[in-house]
Amino acid sequence: MALKRIDKLIALNCNVTRKEARQLIKDGVVSVNGNRIYRAEELVDSASDTVTVQGHTFCLKDHIYIMMNKPRGVITATEDPRKETVIDLIPPELARRSLFPCGRLDRDTTGLLLITDDGEFCHRIMSPSHHVYKTYIAELAKPLSDDSIKILEEGILLDDGTQCLPAKVKYYEENGIPFAEIKIREGKYHQVKRMMCAVGNHVENLDRVQVGDLKMDTSLQRGECREITEEELQLVFNDDSSI
Ligand code: URA
Repeated sequence: MALKRIDKLIALNCNVTRKEARQLIKDGVVSVNGNRIYRAEELVDSASDTVTVQGHTFCLKDHIYIMMNKPRGVITATEDPRKETVIDLIPPELARRSLFPCGRLDRDTTGLLLITDDGEFCHRIMSPSHHVYKTYIAELAKPLSDDSIKILEEGILLDDGTQCLPAKVKYYEENGIPFAEIKIREGKYHQVKRMMCAVGNHVENLDRVQVGDLKMDTSLQRGECREITEEELQLVFNDDSSI
C-alpha cells in the first residue's frame, strides 16, 4: 500500500498546481471514498481509494504513459513560444503539468512517440545501456547496397567523428520505392538521417514504428494519442531484437 498526500495526487492527476489542489480541498469539493475531506495532508492509497473532485472520479496513478502518433511539423518539446509542440496535442483528459516526451523526433519525423511524467522510465528508454531498440522506416532517395547495410550493422563512423553503435537494417522496395527498416538503440541528433548520409544515401521520409517490442497503434491517426496499458508498458523493455 503506497500512501500519498491527497493534494499531491490531485495535482498530479487533475492538471492543477499543488496550490490549486489545496484550494479545491478547502472549497470542500474533494471526497475520498464518498467522504468529503478538508485537509491537504490527508493520506490516500492511490491503488484502492476512490477520489472525487468536483463530482468527477479520478483514477489516481503515480505516473501516466502515453503513446502518440506524432504528425509532421510539430516539435518534440514541452513548450515553445511560436511553434506547436507534441504536448499541445495532448487532450485535456490525459494532460498533466509534468508531462514530457521520451526522447526526440525531428520536426519532420512521424510516428511513435512516448510521453510520460516518469523520469526513470524515460531514462531507461533513452540510455543505450538498457538496449531498448527504436525501429524506424526510412524512405530512401536510392537503393541501399549490401555493403552499406554491413557498414551500418557494424556501427558507422559519422562524418563528424561520432561513432554509432551497431544498427539492425533490412532493405526492401515497395512499388519501386527504396525503404530501410532500421533499428537503433541510441538517440543521437538526426541519427538515422546522418547514418544514411554517411553511406551516401538520403532519407526522404522517416517514421518511427516501434519502441522495444511496443508497436505503433495504427488505429491512431497522426496527432492522436492514448494511454498505454500495463501490458504494453512491459513490451517496451521486452525486445526480442535486443538479444
Ligand atoms: N533519427 C533521425 O534522423 N531523426 C529522428 O527524428 C529520429 C531518429
